[in-house]
Order: sequence, then structure tokens, then C-alpha cells
Amino acid sequence: MKEITQQDYLEFIEDQPSVIIEDVEIPLHKKRKIKTYGPPQDYTPERTTVWSFPDRGNWASHKGNYRGNWSPYIPRNLILKYTQKGNWVLDQMMGSGTTLVEAKLLERNAIGVDINLDAVMITRDRLSFSYDSPEYKEPIIKTYRGDARNLDKIDDESVDLIATHPPYANIISYTRSKKLSDDLSQLPFEEYLKGMRKVAKESFRVLKPGKTCAILIGDTRKHKHYIPISSRVMQTFLDVDFILKEDIIKLQWNMKTTRERWRAKEYEFYLIGHEHIFVFKKPENDKEYKKYKFSTRWW
Ligand SMILES: C[S@@+](CC[C@H](N)C(=O)[O-])C[C@H]1O[C@@H](n2cnc3c(N)ncnc32)[C@H](O)[C@@H]1O
Repeated sequence: MKEITQQDYLEFIEDQPSVIIEDVEIPLHKKRKIKTYGPPQDYTPERTTVWSFPDRGNWASHKGNYRGNWSPYIPRNLILKYTQKGNWVLDQMMGSGTTLVEAKLLERNAIGVDINLDAVMITRDRLSFSYDSPEYKEPIIKTYRGDARNLDKIDDESVDLIATHPPYANIISYTRSKKLSDDLSQLPFEEYLKGMRKVAKESFRVLKPGKTCAILIGDTRKHKHYIPISSRVMQTFLDVDFILKEDIIKLQWNMKTTRERWRAKEYEFYLIGHEHIFVFKKPENDKEYKKYKFSTRWW
């Protein structure tokens, strides 16, 4: 991992006013005007295991123009439910930094990592706003270029919440044109799963006992049959001794950029309209883990 500071970002944008993530050019601004610093007034945190955000959320610096970014409502819900002000949040595949922007708005310290330096610069760009609100205390936010399989700059048992959104195997590529071989979206499926197992192991190491790790992950269809990426990834987290707390179904609205592209008007199958948010807990201790294993021994 290599830390990328605000100074690194300012030097970067001096000769690079934008970055390109595959075919999308994303401008980098020194200053931005923010209209609103949070979701609409009628926002209430989710109460059930089905989440749906038809309006994906564009407050603060959220833009929605990074490939496969997640709606800010997702990290907001997770941060509010599983952390307190001043806790540490980690997103080790942060993309455009949606999680970090939410952590900043909600006064949580945060660490963000991405394999792609351009993504780190977009994140720093999205974090470049000041939030003046009575009693607001600016949290510490650190960003790194690094590999989620090896979080060598993060101490054991130092993080309160992991909220992250890995590539869905190689369904959407983030760096094909840059040929970044450490990008998990560049790997064949079985290699990707081995990589996700390492991600799970590192997540377990850095998380404090009793704390939460949440991932958003979706499935796809190939040759008209269903590929259960999410179930296979979930298993890698269970394999390294996480306990499953929740399987939240997140409905998908923007079906234009769905992972499936079929040309016919009628299909013999249903278009995939959901993803999974798996919420795992690192057991407090052996006793809790054994109790969980015992209750699931019929698996
Ligand atoms: C689904 S995107 C995350 C989008 C993010 N939630 C957002 O809102 O912008 C997945 C990210 O994982 C990154 N990635 C892929 N392989 C990685 C690795 N080995 N370590 C860290 N990041 C990786 C990609 O560069 C990409 O930005």
C-alpha cells in the first residue's frame, strides 16, 4: 500500500485535468460547489432486508459517473447502523470514494484503498469539499493505492466497519485498457475467487472482534444460464470464519447498464434485477463462533 495524500492529488491535477476509467472520462476539479450535504429530508434508514433506491442519491460530491459505483444510500445505511462518530470505516476497493464521502459527512474516520491510482485521484477529488456545519468535527481520512488482498499498512483489529463493493468477477472491467494485472476484474473466475478469499482473510485480520464487514455483490448470466458469483464470494467469507448476519436484497433500477445484454424483445429467462449485500460479523471470541457453527452444522 502506498499512501496518496491531498498534496499528491494537487500535484496530479496540475497536469492532468481528468482521468479515464475504461471509456469514461472523469474530470477532476480543484473546487466544487455543493448544493446539499445529505439525502432528502424524508430519508429514513432501512428497516428490512430489501433495499431499493430508485433515486440513487446525488448529494454532496456524489456523481454516479464511475463504472459500477454504488448508491451513497448503501454506505450511509451501513455506517449509521454499525458505527458511531469517530469510529474507523474501511473501503478497500473504494472506486470513486462513495463510502469515504459518506464517512466524511457522518464524521467517521476512514481508510480507502484502490488498485487503480486514477480511482484514488477521483476519490481525493470527491473528498475535496469543506463541510461547515455547527458542531461538525472533520474526521481523519486516508487514501492508498494498494491491493485489497494485502492491507499491509492497516493494523490488526483496528477497523470498526468494512463497507466495500468488489468487482463482480470480470463482468465489468475497471482497468482492461491499463492492463493492471492485480485488478480482480481482470482474473478468470476461479482465480478471482482465490483473490476474494484473500480479501476476506485480510478483512478478518483488520476488523475488531465483534465488528461488521459488509459487501455488495451481484450475479450474472452466461449462455442464458445463471452464474451465482455472489454465493461463491459469500462462501469465501464464511471460509475464513466470518458469521453471516444479513443477506440484504438490493433492487437494481438502472437496467440499461445491467450486467446482461440481450437483444431480443422476449427471453426465456428473467433479467437479473437484484444484488446482494452480505453483512458479516467477526465473532467476539471462540465461544460465539462455536455457537454459530453449532447452529449451522446442518449446512
Ligand atoms: C465496483 S468498483 C467500486 C465502486 C465504488 N463502490 C464506488 O462507489 O465508486 C470496484 C473497485 O475495485 C477496484 N479493485 C479491483 N481489484 C482490486 C484490488 N485487488 N485491490 C483493490 N481494489 C481493487 C477497482 O479498481 C474498482 O474501482
